Amino acid sequence: MNMQKFWDSYYEQAFNTGVQADPRFVSVMETLNLPAARAVDLGAGEGGDSFWLAEHGWNVTAVDFAESGVNRLQTTAEQRKLPITVVQADMLSYDPAEAPDLVHLGYIHLEPAQRKRLFHRIRTMLNPAGVLCYIGMTDLKPDQLPPGVSANLFAELESILPLVAGMDVLIAEQGPCKVDMGNGPEHATGVTLVARKRK
Ligand SMILES: C[S@@+](CC[C@H](N)C(=O)[O-])C[C@H]1O[C@@H](n2cnc3c(N)ncnc32)[C@H](O)[C@@H]1O
Repeated sequence: MNMQKFWDSYYEQAFNTGVQADPRFVSVMETLNLPAARAVDLGAGEGGDSFWLAEHGWNVTAVDFAESGVNRLQTTAEQRKLPITVVQADMLSYDPAEAPDLVHLGYIHLEPAQRKRLFHRIRTMLNPAGVLCYIGMTDLKPDQLPPGVSANLFAELESILPLVAGMDVLIAEQGPCKVDMGNGPEHATGVTLVARKRK
């Protein structure tokens, strides 16, 4: 399946102007209480988490490869008067102009080889003491998977942890959570991994 086309047509159909930050992301940010600095939201989608960061003083770059998604994010950011830099790019080759202090991956589920490559790139791009925040899901039931999407994209915590070896792990959790995949809140198994690059 071509995931860029998949997401492009998804955002063509489902534009949610009332888009909000993911409660799991907000909970992580409130726990970490990081000083606002430069953030990159990779796979930002409609931008709920980017908006939360900008509203809390972060200098945010929102990156996504779906044209309809970034157009809508840009429109909503302008409506909300939030100065977010919106970039249409593939996160697997995106290079920020300036090193970020936070890189956020909200529900970014990639093939294992791509996931490994992406984490390596993020570790390289982060400022010293910068934070990588991964919030995802695992253990999806077949009827929760979008058509044509493989279950092995939804990695368990134990297979993501090695990707942050050498970083300081701040949060590593796997457990029940509620997520909204477009049909209202559903029970799922969440994976949260937050790690800080050593100085
Ligand atoms: C499940 S959505 C999550 C959106 C948002 N982070 C959130 O939490 O609501 C996944 C997003 O990642 C984007 N995406 C997936 N693979 C990507 C890639 N290689 N480069 C850029 N964006 C990508 C999709 O277009 C989509 O917007």
